[in-house]
Amino acid sequence: MNAPFNADMHLRRRQELLNQIGNNDIVIVPTAAVKSRNGDVEYQFRADSDFFYLTGFTEPESVAVLIPGRESGQYVIFCREKDPEREMWDGIRAGLEGAVEQCGADDAFPIEDIGDILPGLMEERDKVFTNVGRYPEFDIEMLGWLNKIKENRRHHKHAPYELVDLSHLLFEQRLIKRKDELAIMRKAGKMSAAGHKRAMQVCQPGMFEYQVQAEMECEFRKAGSPYNAYPSIVASGANACILHYTENNAELQAGDLLMIDAGAEYGCYAADISRTFPVSGKFSAQQRALYDVVLAAQHAALEQCAPGKTWDDPHRAAVAVLTQGLLDHGLLQGSLDENLEKQLYSRFYMHRTGHWLGLDVHDVGDYQVDDDWRELEPGMVFTVEPGLYIAAADDIDTRWHNIGIRIEDNVVIRREGHEVLTSAVPTDPDEIEALMAG
Ligand code: GLY
Ligand code: MN
Ligand code: MN
Repeated sequence: MNAPFNADMHLRRRQELLNQIGNNDIVIVPTAAVKSRNGDVEYQFRADSDFFYLTGFTEPESVAVLIPGRESGQYVIFCREKDPEREMWDGIRAGLEGAVEQCGADDAFPIEDIGDILPGLMEERDKVFTNVGRYPEFDIEMLGWLNKIKENRRHHKHAPYELVDLSHLLFEQRLIKRKDELAIMRKAGKMSAAGHKRAMQVCQPGMFEYQVQAEMECEFRKAGSPYNAYPSIVASGANACILHYTENNAELQAGDLLMIDAGAEYGCYAADISRTFPVSGKFSAQQRALYDVVLAAQHAALEQCAPGKTWDDPHRAAVAVLTQGLLDHGLLQGSLDENLEKQLYSRFYMHRTGHWLGLDVHDVGDYQVDDDWRELEPGMVFTVEPGLYIAAADDIDTRWHNIGIRIEDNVVIRREGHEVLTSAVPTDPDEIEALMAG
């Protein structure tokens, strides 16, 4: 969030979007709603990702409007006015002038007046592009404004004819990361890696998962990340077999593995790293055997990360290595082909090998075009995160029980292949042991 504001980056994005819509259309994008947590406490506010992408503005109660061809400027923002009394309680506001200056808006109006002003901006436009359904209360307001224009037809102004979901246009735009946003994502990756390294260094039997979490997140904050991209998963022993475990309240036991899936957010961009390491600093033979399989699967997947490969290629490569490893260690039986065809590996590997990454940790963009897996293109950023999860079960030898391993890195496709954004924290098991011993 505290990455420096880059006016040109947001301007280019608005222009790119405007180039895709008609000259007589209008774009309306509200930011996220403030949510009550309990009593007088609210959840920490985080701007809506689409709104932030287009504006860079991080205050709540704001709506951005793009009006192609509007004489006095095509970029209008509605936001909170300055209010010394409220600012004394809740913090400084940009105000109308500040919003114009900070965001490069052509005009700013008080959010309280949106019902009086926005219908006038919508009049005579053909299509309204907006995130239909994301904020139902805002949708209801917008339908009210549309009706208001219709009721005023005697003024010979027509209401927009179509309400169009903005997401298709904007999500494709957000999928391809440009140089300036990649620089931010590189920083988010580095900050997150520093936290994971810290976790490896402090980890000891007898600590609680939340204590390791605190050390890691302290490093995120010290590196400049104001908050996490998603709730940290700090899962020891059997907890690592719960894919999105977030209680983080167990005591670390010697002999167990600790799996951490956590990422810092920076400039509203997410990192998403998983590492798995032995609580007492040394992998057991079984842990090491399965760790080597997952790491080999990650390497195989990374080899497929290049332009012209499809979205499914890294996953297929990872699954083949994981399945062969499960067969080699007697956790699956039969032939490789049969296990792949019947997806028998899914008992131990139940998620896909990655997802797009950006302003959202599970970022936007289609994975298929028509019915085909999408081709990878320079600027696409995603995770590569194979894993194995062997929960305790009667039909599995106890020496494999409660081993949960995930190794997750973030990559960007480049013309010549790919770049790993999160390589500053080791995945090599010998390097991990050395770091923990040091
Ligand atoms: N942190 C959630 C995920 O890896 O998808
Ligand atoms: Mn992930
Ligand atoms: Mn993750």
